[in-house]
Amino acid sequence: MATDNFDKLVDDLQNQIFEETKEAYGDVAFQRWLTPLYKGRIDLPDGYGRVTGSCGDTIEIFLRFENGKVQEASFETDGCGSSTICGSFTAELAIGKTPDDLADITGESILEILGGLPEEDRHCAFLAANALREALKNYMQRFHRES
Ligand code: FES
Repeated sequence: MATDNFDKLVDDLQNQIFEETKEAYGDVAFQRWLTPLYKGRIDLPDGYGRVTGSCGDTIEIFLRFENGKVQEASFETDGCGSSTICGSFTAELAIGKTPDDLADITGESILEILGGLPEEDRHCAFLAANALREALKNYMQRFHRES
């Protein structure tokens, strides 16, 4: 019986945290936090970027190109929940893009697709955008030296 009560307490607490997170971050970001698509490393990526922000968190972006477009993209982070959400949307935005299109992905466009973030978490989107920029730079240096 005591175990049942404890389990219920844990469930209630978890539901409360979920509700508060959903309220603060919005449904789109919340769902992505629950299911962080595109998380994980790509072996031997064509483009790789790794940036650590002033908050101390690191976001990595992995890109694989085919026929001049991003065929596969993914991210890793050791950071906050927002860095996971932002890394995930950054990878999603990158898929199918040419290098020129990738250069147009900014912190603002990441925030726009996920419906915004609380003020104190907005920098996480800019960190993800910087990691993407580094991955693009890495790709261009390796495969487009002449440009
Ligand atoms: Fe550092 Fe979000 S607080 S990336």
